Amino acid sequence: MNNQNLSTQIAVYPGSFDPFTNGHLDITKRAARLFDTLIIAVYASPRKQLLFSVEERLELCRAVVESEHLPNVRVESFTGLTVDYVKSLSGHAIIRGLRSSNDFEAEFQMGLLNHRLAPDIETVCLFTNLEQLFIRSSQLKEVASLGGHVNDMLPSAVVGAFNKKFTAG
Ligand code: PNS
Repeated sequence: MNNQNLSTQIAVYPGSFDPFTNGHLDITKRAARLFDTLIIAVYASPRKQLLFSVEERLELCRAVVESEHLPNVRVESFTGLTVDYVKSLSGHAIIRGLRSSNDFEAEFQMGLLNHRLAPDIETVCLFTNLEQLFIRSSQLKEVASLGGHVNDMLPSAVVGAFNKKFTAG
């Protein structure tokens, strides 16, 4: 992290957010307390099968931020490399949430690679709250597709759109 001006530190929280969960919300709120501005950056085209389009993911993240009254948090989408996007915003840090040792391996590798690509940008990992330890977007989708209820693991602004995906058609 550079030390130019500690009063204008910008962090970017990148992810697929398909959908944005209570785990993401917890990390967002905590990162927003550490930085002046936090940008939730919705990656447009992750290499995985998505439930929501980028426009829908963006809209849902924005609805959560609005309903949670997080004045220093913005939501944007991006394409290309995360580090390039962070640079384009003159950002200082990349935020990631860590749940388990499995996460650690992947995050460690991504953090090292991003650091090699952009040594001035730090990756800041926050440990998940115990309450959110088991929440994974991919598993929530699987459970919902099999008829399980996961409403209490999603922000209220996401629940309606999420359940609609499994009842429509
Ligand atoms: O929510 P996810 O799927 O764990 O987020 C992964 C994400 C979007 C942060 C990661 O895939 C990413 O940064 N993609 C952008 C392309 C990039 O920069 N790749 C190199 C990082 S290893």
